[in-house]
Amino acid sequence: MPDVDTSKEEKKFYEDVPMKTPGFFLKGSGSLDWGMKNRLARIFNPRSGRTVMLAIDHGYFQGPTTGLERIDLNIVPLVPYADALMLTRGILRTTIPPASTKPIVVRASGGPSILKELSNEEIALDIEDAIRMNASAMAIQVFIGGEFETRSVHNMTRLVDMGLRYGIPVMAVTAVGKEMVRDAKYFRLACRICAELGAHFVKTYYVPEGFETVTASCPVPIVMAGGKKIEVLDALKMASNAIQRGASGVDMGRNIFQSENPVAMIKAIGAVVHKNLSPDKAYEMFNDLKK
Ligand code: R5P
Repeated sequence: MPDVDTSKEEKKFYEDVPMKTPGFFLKGSGSLDWGMKNRLARIFNPRSGRTVMLAIDHGYFQGPTTGLERIDLNIVPLVPYADALMLTRGILRTTIPPASTKPIVVRASGGPSILKELSNEEIALDIEDAIRMNASAMAIQVFIGGEFETRSVHNMTRLVDMGLRYGIPVMAVTAVGKEMVRDAKYFRLACRICAELGAHFVKTYYVPEGFETVTASCPVPIVMAGGKKIEVLDALKMASNAIQRGASGVDMGRNIFQSENPVAMIKAIGAVVHKNLSPDKAYEMFNDLKK
């Protein structure tokens, strides 16, 4: 059993030296199989190397979330503006038109509702069903430090094994318990564990202090999770900061679909992510589009 890392030496992340990506445009993905790379290239735009994923999977543990009460009315019109959709198979099959060619990142874990211990999840999808739905990736929660940490990590590693068998990438989602500190040290730990154990990309939260060390120490792409609804300009600043500090995109939900103008918001976020538009300019864009 190795000792815990008690070195007094300052850690060196070389945040200003991007990791080389031989063989493919995405970090850490150069040795993957063709099918895996092809699916990743549907999610991440090969020109910018980035993605704007629209997360609408909240119902899998909290039911009809504000803004997602009627996905047919509120979300389907937004689909053309996202690079990829993150959702459950139930919503995909009932509500998303099959003629849509948008890449799908399908929720593959579940179990507890908001009324129970959330880390007590299981894999909730067969790989055959992911293939049937033509999924471009599968998403699973990993609860580092949570009550059922080991189970959630093993759920992820089993999903990675299944994904590798058929060429479907896995996105690990770092889920943080209410009582845990959300800082760079925690997210470095959580993201690195997910990548070390096989996740092909990781969704994690932005932290103002040291986010660049989270992205630098994770050898696969990171997409920023949105979190609860905040002011438009603050959400644009958060997305911009995450991108400028090494994130390969965003996977946002509430800050888009709970916006007063979701189409304007997803377009403004898209400009920040793919075109490096400044938050102030993107805010102007949001207000113009809103009119
Ligand atoms: C994580 O628990 C799920 O993927 C969420 O549904 C998703 O991350 C929420 O997105 P947002 O926090 O941007 O609303």
